Amino acid sequence: MAEMRKIPVDELKPGMRFDKPVYIDSNNMLVAANVSIKLDDIKKLMRWGVSEVETAGNLVSTEQEIKAATARATMTESDEAKKIIDDYNKLLTQRVPLIEIHKEACKAVANVHNAIKADEPFAIDEIDVSLTKIIEIMKNYPNIFLFLYGLEEGKNYLVVHSVNVTFYSLLIGMALKYAPLKLRELGIGTMLIDAGMIKLPAYIMHKQSNLTEHEFNQIKTHPLHGYKALRQLGKIPEKSALICLQHHEQYDGKGYPRGLKGTQIDEYARIAAIADSYEAQIANRAYRKRIFFYQAMKNLLSSGINKFDPVILRVFLSRMSVYPIGSLVELNNGTIGIVIGSMPQKPLRPIVKLIIDSNKQRFTDTIIVNLLEEKALYITRALDETEIGVNLFEVL
Ligand SMILES: [Fe+2]
Repeated sequence: MAEMRKIPVDELKPGMRFDKPVYIDSNNMLVAANVSIKLDDIKKLMRWGVSEVETAGNLVSTEQEIKAATARATMTESDEAKKIIDDYNKLLTQRVPLIEIHKEACKAVANVHNAIKADEPFAIDEIDVSLTKIIEIMKNYPNIFLFLYGLEEGKNYLVVHSVNVTFYSLLIGMALKYAPLKLRELGIGTMLIDAGMIKLPAYIMHKQSNLTEHEFNQIKTHPLHGYKALRQLGKIPEKSALICLQHHEQYDGKGYPRGLKGTQIDEYARIAAIADSYEAQIANRAYRKRIFFYQAMKNLLSSGINKFDPVILRVFLSRMSVYPIGSLVELNNGTIGIVIGSMPQKPLRPIVKLIIDSNKQRFTDTIIVNLLEEKALYITRALDETEIGVNLFEVL
């Protein structure tokens, strides 16, 4: 047996790990081989008055290992993984164009909302122009939705939400290999998905928590208000307007306004319902904070499992992955990174851009780890940006 050596607890740092287990004493193991020591572990030892731990292992240098992993990643990775990294670098150049396209789309949606509010006929030329640009940028940069995060936040929620739902719905439409005509029908309907809300008292929009029964019954009228306005004031094709009418129907028949079930609900509306629920969860609202991509996806798969079309939900999941792009994750070596891409067949092993090292310092270089190749590394948990005090918008 290799010789045990003692390490003073005050020399331990979070993220350190050894290639053999670390013991508190002869009966108790602190961490297994290759598992990082956490700040909590160190605090515990101090609380217990333990001054030394023992291991027969050697310290594994996180920095060195990651550098090696990165070097290997650029040399040996599969073509598919190379493409993801390459795509990410190209994606970075599209942030500014996206901001413009998003802003323009919001303006187009707001103009239609205003017309509906005033009961005036409206044209959808502006919506059409915007939609064409959205579809084009999504075709060229399928992961562009990563940069939707935080755009126009604090502005008109109804409008921003509708535009974002359009991106997620089109993402599903594209994964389903929709022809351009179908993408357009889908996009027009989702851009105006909540147009009926504009007919309700404004305060309800901003409340949405602890609604009285009366208020909730009012909310339930927005699909019909929207549908009527789209058909009568905008002469919008039936297929698109149905999205407005049916996006709160549920696959299990428990939705509203009509309690339609399964394929009684139009396919576009079944897509939009998933995108709508996902987007609503990841957006900050006046009455509650956003939840994170990973948690939102988990919610869709747990509490939402009967609400949504299971086939479409699976398509969305495989497109977004278990750790959707933009998720913050902690690896077993104590480093923290952001998911920048993944392969549908390996959702638990995405490609991660590291942002914080195991000593909680920001990396200055761009270090990308391909978990598909680096078998020694794995995700231990998803985390929230507030936990690590970074602004996600800055580190993408
Ligand atoms: Fe709605």
